[in-house]
Amino acid sequence: MKPTKLQFWILCWFSMALCCWCASDKFTQSDTPHTWKKLYLAHHWPVTVCKMSANDCQDPPEYWTIHGLWPDKGEECNRSWHFNVTEIKDLMSDMRHYWPDVLHSSQNRTQFWKHEWEKHGTCAATLDVLNSQKKYFGKALELYEHIDLNSCLLKAGIKPSSSYYQMTAIKEALTRFYGVTPKIQCLPPEQGEKAQTIGQIEFCFTKELQLRNCTALKSESNPVPAVLKLGTEELSICNDSLPTYYPSQVQVHK
Ligand SMILES: *[C@@H]1O[C@H](CO)[C@@H](O)[C@H](O)[C@H]1NC(C)=O
Ligand SMILES: *[C@@H]1O[C@H](CO)[C@@H](O)[C@H](O)[C@H]1NC(C)=O
Ligand SMILES: *[C@@H]1O[C@H](CO)[C@@H](O)[C@H](O)[C@H]1NC(C)=O
Ligand SMILES: *[C@@H]1O[C@H](CO)[C@@H](O)[C@H](O)[C@H]1NC(C)=O
Ligand SMILES: *[C@@H]1O[C@H](CO)[C@@H](O)[C@H](O)[C@H]1NC(C)=O
Repeated sequence: MKPTKLQFWILCWFSMALCCWCASDKFTQSDTPHTWKKLYLAHHWPVTVCKMSANDCQDPPEYWTIHGLWPDKGEECNRSWHFNVTEIKDLMSDMRHYWPDVLHSSQNRTQFWKHEWEKHGTCAATLDVLNSQKKYFGKALELYEHIDLNSCLLKAGIKPSSSYYQMTAIKEALTRFYGVTPKIQCLPPEQGEKAQTIGQIEFCFTKELQLRNCTALKSESNPVPAVLKLGTEELSICNDSLPTYYPSQVQVHK
C-alpha cells in the first residue's frame, strides 16, 4: 500500500469511529428516566394476595386477576394527569371482574385503578396505543384476555390444590404454551415450612405489544426487580428447587 492510500484509509477509519461515537452519544442522551423497553402484564393469585396481609379480603376470586400493566422503567411520569373513572366507564364490568381490588373488596374499588394509572399508566402513555386512560385500561384487559392464563393453567392440569407442584413444572408448562418465559413470583416458605406459595405471574411485551421473554437481552440493563410488599410479607422470584403451593380459598380457610 502506498503511503497516500494508507493515510486515506486511516482518515476514513477515524471518521467512521467518530460517527459511531456521536451516534452512541445521542443514544445515551435520549435514554431519559422515562424511556422504557418492555411492559409487564402482572397477574396475581387473589388467594395468595389475601394471605399476605391483614385486610378486608372477602371471598377472593379463584382465578388469576390483573395486578397491573407496568413499563419496566419510570413511575409517576405525569403527576398532573389525574385518574378519572368516568373515562373508563365503558370498561367497568370487565374492570370489576378481571381487575378487582383484591385487598379492599368492600371499599371504593377505584382507588386501586387510580394508583395503577398514576404510578404506571402515565408512563406507559408514551405509546400512542396507551395514551389515554381508556386505551391503557382497555389494552391491559385485551392483553389479559389474549393471554388467557387461567385456561392455560387448567389445560396443563395445574389447579389450586392442597398438594405441591414443582416450580419447574409450572414454568415449563407456561413456556411451552406461550413460547416465552414469564416472571413468576412466590411468597417464600413460612418458618418451619418447606414450600413456597405462588403469588404472581408476569408476562412481558415489547413496545409493539408482542409477547417477549421477561429475561433481559444482553443489550439491556437489568432493572432491580420490583418486589411487592404488603405488611411484613413480600413476593420474590420463585425458587426453582422448592415445592410450590397453589392454594385454593377452601384450604386457606380450613
Ligand atoms: C401531562 O398530562 C396533562 C393532562 O393530560 C397534559 O396536558 C400534559 O401535556 C402532560 N404532560 C406531559 C409532559 O406529557
Ligand atoms: C372526567 O372525564 C369525563 C369524560 O371524559 C369528563 O367529561 C370530565 O370533565 C372529566 N372530569 C374531570 C374532573 O376532569
Ligand atoms: C367511589 O369513587 C368514585 C370516583 O372517585 C366516586 O364518584 C364515588 O362516589 C365513590 N363511591 C363511594 C362509595 O365512595
Ligand atoms: C425466549 O427465550 C428462549 C430461550 O430461553 C428462546 O428459545 C426463544 O426464542 C425466546 N423467544 C423470544 C420471543 O424471544
Ligand atoms: C432455593 O432453595 C434451596 C433449597 O432450600 C436453597 O438451598 C437455595 O439457596 C435457594 N435458592 C435461592 C436463590 O434462594
